[in-house]
Amino acid sequence: MIKMVGKRALWPFILLSLVASPGPAQSRDAARDKIEQPDKVMEATGVKPGMVIGEIGAGQGYFTFWLSQGVGKSGKVYANDISGSALAAIERRCESEKVSNIETVLGALEDPRFPPASLDMAFMVNVFHDLERPVELLAGLLPAMKPGAPVVVMDRDPARFKDAHGHFLARDEVERMIGRSVFELVRVETFLRDHNLYILRARR
Ligand SMILES: C[S@@+](CC[C@H](N)C(=O)[O-])C[C@H]1O[C@@H](n2cnc3c(N)ncnc32)[C@H](O)[C@@H]1O
Repeated sequence: MIKMVGKRALWPFILLSLVASPGPAQSRDAARDKIEQPDKVMEATGVKPGMVIGEIGAGQGYFTFWLSQGVGKSGKVYANDISGSALAAIERRCESEKVSNIETVLGALEDPRFPPASLDMAFMVNVFHDLERPVELLAGLLPAMKPGAPVVVMDRDPARFKDAHGHFLARDEVERMIGRSVFELVRVETFLRDHNLYILRARR
């Protein structure tokens, strides 16, 4: 029981609410964090405060809110998807967590509809294998990238887990698709348990 001593009695509550309130820094999926390690992925790919990042196929925003935290208040994340209901879920979470650096963008199959020359980096997390026309989508993304800005494709590699339904793309298939696109493969990071990180840049 806290004794009421004027305004001082409020301090324990204020401190408690600061510690306990779920800000954007707190993930909602600890199991997924363990496998996908968003902190490590952002460090390895060079996500920094102040950056403008476009995420394609953001879904319900699992990675979006990590990126939002990575770019900070001075940065911005454009969260794209072709599903309006997924984007609505992101908007609701932004509202409830008072996150102001995420803007949702309803895209088309071959065009993410990000503002031209706006992005320091683009991300696709668990999306590439689901794209109907990946080569065309990459062409649609190019005008939004600043010169030299990287695209990070994070996707599960069926060589590293039991892909019973053959849903995912083998590394050489992903690399072949990238090879047919307007981007070229710069490197592949393999430190995650299930996923590869394919880092691309526009061809010169
Ligand atoms: C497996 S979910 C991954 C969602 C999220 N990135 C995550 O990791 O939780 C794939 C998402 O890609 C979206 N998607 C599929 N094709 C797309 C396209 N051409 N452009 C943008 N989003 C697309 C789907 O609507 C879906 O939300």
